[in-house]
Amino acid sequence: MATSDNILVWWLKRVAYRMWQFKQTVLPKLDRAAWYDAVRELPQPVQEHLKLLRKSEKAHILRVYRAVGASQQINDEERRELLQMALLHDIGKAIVRSSVFMKVARVFLPIGRNEHCIAGARLLNRLGFERSLVKRVLRHHTFSHSDRLLQMFQKIDDSC
Ligand SMILES: [Fe+2]
Ligand SMILES: [Fe+2]
Repeated sequence: MATSDNILVWWLKRVAYRMWQFKQTVLPKLDRAAWYDAVRELPQPVQEHLKLLRKSEKAHILRVYRAVGASQQINDEERRELLQMALLHDIGKAIVRSSVFMKVARVFLPIGRNEHCIAGARLLNRLGFERSLVKRVLRHHTFSHSDRLLQMFQKIDDSC
């Protein structure tokens, strides 16, 4: 009984969170000045891809970026790495995008979201980014790993 209650609570929390995410997608708020400020030092081809993202995707990236910036649990070097990760982790969405059907299905079911991870990692690899960053972008929706920094990033990403 306790186990089925736990599963129900987990599922309800998940649906509530997905509904919040859905609202952020439908009614996104983007601080454009903060967005341009965050991305302006990135290489031009990266900026061109980021431009193609939807307003809601940029707003999500900016929330992750700000949360990493405010985190008390990382040192300066880790912050540098995770700020870069925040800006680039979802860049693959500029290349491949989920269908509306898949987006709705993900509200209710634990379905993976790997297409944009692969597309983003390929792009960043081609553009010569550090191997560690490429690997983290590739695995940012995978939870079977022991990369502590990526685990911290995933918690932030999932809450934004
Ligand atoms: Fe993602
Ligand atoms: Fe994300």
